[in-house]
Amino acid sequence: MSDTLFTGIAQLVSPAQGLQRGRAMRTLTQINDAALLVREGFVAWAGPRSEAPQAAQTHDLGGVAVVPGLLDPHTHAVWAGDRLADFEARISGVPYEDILARGGGIRSTMRATAAADVDALVALARPRLAALRASGATTVEVKSGYGLDFDAEVRMLRAVQRLQAEFSLVPTLLIHVPPQEGRSEYVRAVCEELIPQVVREGLATAVDVFCEKEAFTVEETRAIFGAAKAHGLHTKLHADQFHAIGGTELACGLGALSVDHLEASGEAQIRALAASGTVATLLPGVTLHLGLPAAPGRALIDAGAAVAVGTDLNPGSSPLFSTQLALALAVRLCGLTPAEALCAATVNAAHALGLQGRGALVAGQRADFLALHSADWRDLAYTLGTSPVREVWQGGRQP
Ligand code: NIG
Ligand code: FE
Repeated sequence: MSDTLFTGIAQLVSPAQGLQRGRAMRTLTQINDAALLVREGFVAWAGPRSEAPQAAQTHDLGGVAVVPGLLDPHTHAVWAGDRLADFEARISGVPYEDILARGGGIRSTMRATAAADVDALVALARPRLAALRASGATTVEVKSGYGLDFDAEVRMLRAVQRLQAEFSLVPTLLIHVPPQEGRSEYVRAVCEELIPQVVREGLATAVDVFCEKEAFTVEETRAIFGAAKAHGLHTKLHADQFHAIGGTELACGLGALSVDHLEASGEAQIRALAASGTVATLLPGVTLHLGLPAAPGRALIDAGAAVAVGTDLNPGSSPLFSTQLALALAVRLCGLTPAEALCAATVNAAHALGLQGRGALVAGQRADFLALHSADWRDLAYTLGTSPVREVWQGGRQP
């Protein structure tokens, strides 16, 4: 593949490469009247158009703003069935946790997902992933977690593996809710059977656990993290969604890549995240859909934490099919500035997935970028209800 010089860039806006924490999240590089040289799918050079090197081809983007492709670091995009009855019940006042405790909610999605084969799961997930990509996500994490048994968990991960031929995906094994009976045997089998199988078959790069009153305890989480690390997998955690029961502190102490949700986090959890290398991932779609308090994004950044943002696309707590909208909601609901939100959805989201080579428009990074409709990049954080993203470029080409 030869070099292509992209021109017609009114603004080229990017965070610096690598994890950004605290005040550094606000510092973006902005080059007006810019050009971007792409070679074999990677950024070879970015700078003012007047200084651009020669290239075999040029591609004029027509005078718009260009930003890095977004990374969505938290989705449950593979599921079967629906949660429309739950939605109506919740709107009439039944809490999400009560529906789950009665065997509904996540457990009803597990029953439907466990009954679907890999072909059906692939067909259901494909349009959801296409929607996320059209919204600007050039890399998307997808979790398992709706398998009733281990075979169903593995089928979910095989569906993700199949979809990797069409999308840029990062697969995570999610240990979501314990069985109603025999939970200690279940945790032991997760550690001794499921995690080793997933590693043998190369089906996931990280293990996530839902640590919550209605799900796994801190001690169960510790055991699962121990097995994940022993098998060379990264760890991530769903924590502080409803109650701060100690999961955040555990994950920070054990060097997890990220702790996600944080709607119920207080001072102690904010301090733990700020003092650690663990990314705090905000999921503002959950705040909107469940009417939960917003995660303390502003306080986390002010304390010096590294914050990321994702959709948490799932049928129960966040039917949000736009990564751009997650970014825009983080500004409204969690108090981030537009610059912090861009950083949260790019380089920090990459770090939350253990990826180094994506998220910034600097030489050496994968050429994932978005051409907006507008000449001002801030439309990315401003626009609600229609997409400000005109074109998605992934590895230097339009997927
Ligand atoms: O990230 N809270 C736990 N898990 C998912 C919700 C899954 C569901 O409701 O189906 C979440 O919110
Ligand atoms: Fe989630």
